[in-house]
Amino acid sequence: MNKKTSISILLKSKPEGQTVTVKGWVRTFRNNQFIALNDGSIITSMQIVVDRELLSEDVLKRITPGTALIATGKLIESQGRGQTMELVAEEILITGDSNPETYPLQPKRHSLEFLRKNGHLRFRTNTFGAIFRIRHHLAFAIHKFFNDRGFFYLNTPIVTGSDAEGAGEMFAVTAMDLGAIPRTEEGEIDYKQDFFGKETNLTVSGQLEAELGALALGNVYTFGPTFRAENSNTTRHLAEFWMIEPEIAFADLKDDMDLAENMLQYVIGYVLEKCDKDLAFLAERLENEDKNKPQAERAQPLLEKLKFVVENEFERLTYTEAFNILRNSKPNKKGKFAYPIDEWGVDLQSEHERYLVEKKFKKPVILTDYPKDIKAFYMRMNDDGKTVAAMDILVPGIGELIGGSQREERLDVLHARMKEMNIPTDEMQWYLDTRVYGTCPHAGFGLGFERLVLFVTGMSNIRDVIPFPRYPGSAEF
Ligand code: 4AD
Ligand code: MG
Repeated sequence: MNKKTSISILLKSKPEGQTVTVKGWVRTFRNNQFIALNDGSIITSMQIVVDRELLSEDVLKRITPGTALIATGKLIESQGRGQTMELVAEEILITGDSNPETYPLQPKRHSLEFLRKNGHLRFRTNTFGAIFRIRHHLAFAIHKFFNDRGFFYLNTPIVTGSDAEGAGEMFAVTAMDLGAIPRTEEGEIDYKQDFFGKETNLTVSGQLEAELGALALGNVYTFGPTFRAENSNTTRHLAEFWMIEPEIAFADLKDDMDLAENMLQYVIGYVLEKCDKDLAFLAERLENEDKNKPQAERAQPLLEKLKFVVENEFERLTYTEAFNILRNSKPNKKGKFAYPIDEWGVDLQSEHERYLVEKKFKKPVILTDYPKDIKAFYMRMNDDGKTVAAMDILVPGIGELIGGSQREERLDVLHARMKEMNIPTDEMQWYLDTRVYGTCPHAGFGLGFERLVLFVTGMSNIRDVIPFPRYPGSAEF
């Protein structure tokens, strides 16, 4: 097959009548003469000028939205407005016809709901092309950030026998015949007869295993699929999402916060540079969408928001300080919060997090030192005996983007805490052993990758920033 040149590369070259070949899918075909061809490499489509003398009527008729074709011709400076260059086609080879009667993607604006229903084709729109190119560059930037700083990429198991967060929202993994589940004499499910000889689930976090790696390799990070069977039908939750979990040895909570803040600023700075065209497109999209909303409900312009995050330090405060701010806030006093803030120790809801970042501080906020009762068993107990060395990073429009902590490295304290929280210590000896043999202060955090993509693209539904979303009631493809 003829070698193809991607449109992203061609657009950087000087059009001087050289012969080139492009391969892609027709977006529009205007006046029976101008094809907008997109090959996915960049948001910009190449204008292909068709010489009707050279093409049969039959071929012309087959050029409709969605048609896949290979065009060869001369690349010249564009005569028309709206593009810098165009390809004057000498040959067009159609590899796949479309059907203008039934093809769902017409050359007009489609709603996101419509595109979600046609999820198999939504990749072919400008919006989703931009989102998934940005998603790729964000993933790459994350790997680069950690690699450049000496972190090792550690793959933790997807099928696991432990419940890392102790929240119990897991999907069971089994090879048992569900119609004839083996039982013990006591009538319990007999997992000994299952594939792994024990109860297993899809992982909710790779953290506990990452800790094993960090306490030998120094600094590690995971980047893998994560599963939660919580029945959260929200625009911020997925049942299958990707999480990045760095774990750093000989580190405390401040080191952890510094790492998280630096990482976010680095990766956002990276895509601001690399994905300028896609971001500009999404920024304009957001602006158009917001035009009809009252001023107060409009989102901050996307590029302005991203630049602000890169250039400004995050606000850091403790849960207790945030609690006092929230308790005395207008919406709380006027009963506007669905969950009123009254007693110290309550968990913060998304409405509270968003009040802090969007109304009070107008920037990302790192909340630290949460009450122990609303956090996981592995977080390090503070001297007050009431709070733990936890940190959550909250960002505008989303709420919690990152959750992390310094880990409880003291064997006796950890052991007591696990007992208190009914975490089975005998099954977790492998975890406790890191504290038995050569323990050290260490810390880490989890970044929800889709929430990051959501934040960077300015989209409002998490189902739109993962290629194949899984959520309650839906596991298509
Ligand atoms: O706060 P979480 O539950 O923290 C942990 O799992 C720790 N083990 C992380 C660590 O310290 N290594 O989850 C971390 C992040 C959240 O801040 C959120 O961004 C994302 O994961 N997240 C989800 N994203 C999409 N859908 C869901 N259902 C999510 N649940 C958590
Ligand atoms: Mg959390």
